[in-house]
Amino acid sequence: MTSNIKDYILRHAEHNPSGITAETMRKFSLSRPAVLHYINQAIGEGLLTAEGTTRARRYRLKNIVELRFSIELFPETESAVWRCRVFPHLKLPKNVLNICEHGFTEMLNNAIDHSEDKNAYIYISQNYASVEFFIIDRGIGIFEKIQKARGLQTPQEALLELSKGKLTTYPSRHAGEGIYFTSRMFDRFVIRSGRLSYQRLREEDDDWLIEMEERRSGFRKGTLVYMQISTDANWSTKEIFDKYQDDNLRFRKTHVPIALAREPGQQLVSRSQAKRILARLEQFTEVLLDFKGVDEIGQGFADEIFRIFPETHPEIPLIAINKSPAIDRMIAFVKANAPTLPPSLIDKN
Ligand SMILES: Nc1ncnc2c1ncn2[C@@H]1O[C@H](COP(=O)(O)OP(=O)(O)OP(=O)(O)O)[C@@H](O)[C@H]1O
Ligand SMILES: [Mg+2]
Repeated sequence: MTSNIKDYILRHAEHNPSGITAETMRKFSLSRPAVLHYINQAIGEGLLTAEGTTRARRYRLKNIVELRFSIELFPETESAVWRCRVFPHLKLPKNVLNICEHGFTEMLNNAIDHSEDKNAYIYISQNYASVEFFIIDRGIGIFEKIQKARGLQTPQEALLELSKGKLTTYPSRHAGEGIYFTSRMFDRFVIRSGRLSYQRLREEDDDWLIEMEERRSGFRKGTLVYMQISTDANWSTKEIFDKYQDDNLRFRKTHVPIALAREPGQQLVSRSQAKRILARLEQFTEVLLDFKGVDEIGQGFADEIFRIFPETHPEIPLIAINKSPAIDRMIAFVKANAPTLPPSLIDKN
């Protein structure tokens, strides 16, 4: 049983490698020797390492599990790989282990079924505070695959489509749920392919931060998936499924990060940007439009989403979240200024 103080040190050392001693002294009102006692214990147990001399001492968590291997990609082998090569090495609470199994097998299955590559490279490490997975293939690349299959103009558009969920390029065998659910189970989920890097970070109160980044350097072939979760995560796979599925286990609700419809430096103003957001939303019975990271929207964009879509799809509730006051005002404006056209003249596209 790890003491609270040692647990605190081990869970915070990564964020404050040189100041963790002072931080713990303040937090628990302890003297320096008292904190060093716990630090030395953790070092003795092989959980922590120290670098540098006393004044510039920095602490790092030590890996207690490290697995690296390449595998050939054969159909339907993801569960066997988990069972034989990964599961026996991980010591984690049941709920975290279930999340890891779900994420690892889904992402390895993706490499098997979608990458068009023959091999994948796996790297897994666990320390006291967290466990992380890399699954890397050198195949076609996820955004290029989606872009080609759906005739989209840019990799960003492929990413926006992917983030809505229910997107698959292999409909006879797949449902397009793997990435949507897996990315919500981990503390950090990253997909990198080509020049695009997409990251979801779990924040306080189960909120999420989504980042899309155009990487300037290094075109890389294939797809890299990174997943990381805290070893004391207190949620389960079931909670994540329940949030977006209905009683019949159908994927019901989508959460659309509006910011992804915008290229860097662009505004969200046009009807065509709105149409990219609205594409395929009729497949869901509830839609959360998340404006996080967006301060303003233009009139055509707002009109398309908040007046025309509800008129043509009255059965699908659109719930807008994280709206700025300026966005609220624009939505109110387009709703109040609706032209009175007969329904037959409303453009349904
Ligand atoms: N490693 C990869 N290489 C290339 N394309 C990929 C890769 N992983 C995923 N994709 C693309 O992303 C799409 C969405 O993946 P996701 O796992 O969400 O759904 P799916 O695999 O199609 O269906 P499900 O996971 O429900 O079986 C895939 O259909 C495929 O086009
Ligand atoms: Mg999948």
